[in-house]
Amino acid sequence: MPCKSKAIAIIRHPDSRPTKLMNTDTHATAQALLDFIDASPSPWHAVAHCEAQLQAAGYSRLNEGERWKLVAAGGYYVVRGGASIIAFVLGSQNAAEAGLRIIGAHTDSPGLRVKPKPAEDAQGILRLGVEVYGGPILATFADRDLGLAGRVNVRGEDGFTPRLAHFDQALLRLPNLAIHMNREVNEAGLKFNKQTELPLLLGVSDKDSKADQRFRALLASKLDVSPDALLTWELCACDTQKGTFWGADQEFIANSQLDNLASCHAALSALLVTKAPAATCVCAFFDHEEVGSESAAGAGGSFLADIIQRLAANAGLDSEDQRRMLAHSFFISADMAHAWHPNFPSAYEPGHRVMVNGGPVIKSNANHRYSTGAETAARFMAICEKAGVPCQQYAHRTDLGCGSTIGPIVAARLGIASVDVGSPMWAMHSLRESAGVLDHSHMIAALTAAFST
Ligand code: CO
Repeated sequence: MPCKSKAIAIIRHPDSRPTKLMNTDTHATAQALLDFIDASPSPWHAVAHCEAQLQAAGYSRLNEGERWKLVAAGGYYVVRGGASIIAFVLGSQNAAEAGLRIIGAHTDSPGLRVKPKPAEDAQGILRLGVEVYGGPILATFADRDLGLAGRVNVRGEDGFTPRLAHFDQALLRLPNLAIHMNREVNEAGLKFNKQTELPLLLGVSDKDSKADQRFRALLASKLDVSPDALLTWELCACDTQKGTFWGADQEFIANSQLDNLASCHAALSALLVTKAPAATCVCAFFDHEEVGSESAAGAGGSFLADIIQRLAANAGLDSEDQRRMLAHSFFISADMAHAWHPNFPSAYEPGHRVMVNGGPVIKSNANHRYSTGAETAARFMAICEKAGVPCQQYAHRTDLGCGSTIGPIVAARLGIASVDVGSPMWAMHSLRESAGVLDHSHMIAALTAAFST
C-alpha cells in the first residue's frame, strides 16, 4: 500500500507522549499487514499470498528449470522450495553501473511443527507429537486456540502434488497444568519438557480407530482426498486469533508472526509501488532463517546468488561487469528489532532504547551478528531522510548474547554492501507479538525510497 510519508512524518522525542500517531492511511496500511498475516498461517501460505499479490500486479512466474527470456522493465518472481520467493522488477539503466537494490526478509516463524508420524493415544486422549522449530517462547502456546497450517504432499498422477492446508478453527490445545499441581509456576516460570509435555491435545481416543487413522482422516477430509493419498506433510501449529489493534489511541497492533511477515509485507508493498526504476529492484524472502538459513532455499543457500547470476546473464554482462554490478549493489536485510519495554529496563542497553512508533531501527553489532557497518548505516539514514521518516539505532546489551539474521549471511556470500534494519516490536518469538501502527508505514516509505536511491 502506498504511504503518504508527509502526512505521517511525526518525529517524537522518546520521552514525550505522541499526540496523534494515527490517521486513516497509517491505519489502513497496518490493517493490510494484519490481513496479510491472517492469510499466511505458515511460510508456504505466506509465499502463496505474495505470489497472488505479484500476479495481480502483472508479475510473471519464472521456473528455475527453464530458460528465461526477460523483457525490459518486466516484473518477475521465482519460488524455491515452496516457502522462499524472490521477486524483481528490471531497471532501465545498465546493470553494471546501476547495481541492484535488494531487500531481504524471512518467511518462517518459530513454533511447533507436527512430526511425520504424530498421532498417539495417550491413555484415552488423542494427541499430536510436535518438534520445536527455531526458538519460540513455548509458554505462549499454552491455553491458546490453535489451528494447523502448512503443506501436504498428496499422491497424484505424476507421483505427488503439494497442497496447502489450513485449519482456521480451534483444533488443538496445550492446556496448562492447574496451579494446584504446579505451585511454583509464577515464581519459576512456565516450563515444558519438549518431548513429553508439548504434544498437542486433539480429541478423545476411539476404540474403533487408531490414532494415526483419526489424524489422517481429519487431514484428508480437509483436502478432500482419501487418507491413503496422504504422503508427507510440513504442518505448523498456528494461532486462530486474528490480528488486532490495541492501545489508548489504537496505536499498536498484535498478531502472530510479525517477525518477520511485517518485513515481508513492507518490502513487497515497496516493490509493488516501484514502477520503472533505474536500478533493478529485488525482494528476497527466505525460509529457514529461524533454524540457521543453511538449506537450499534458505539465505545460506544458492537461491539469491543463482537469481543474480541469471539477471546478469540476461543483461549480457561478462564476468567483470557482473562484479561491477555487485560492487554497485545494496542489500537491506529487514527483520524486526527489540523495542523498549518499560517493565524490563535492565534488559536493554540504556543508550540504545528504540521506541515503538519511533521509526525504522538500524541494528548494529561490533561482532557482526548484524551486517551493518558505519557506512551502510549512514546510507540507510539518508534513505530515511529522503523518505521523510525518523530512524533509530539499536545495540544489544554487551553482557547479553545478540541474535542474528540473514544480513551477515547474504553479505558474506555475495560481497554486497549491507545493512540490518527492522521495525521495533515487543515479545519477539511469542505466539502473539506486538508492534506499532506508524512503524509499518514508516518502514514501507523507507524501503520504497531505498528502491529509488
Ligand atoms: Co526474524
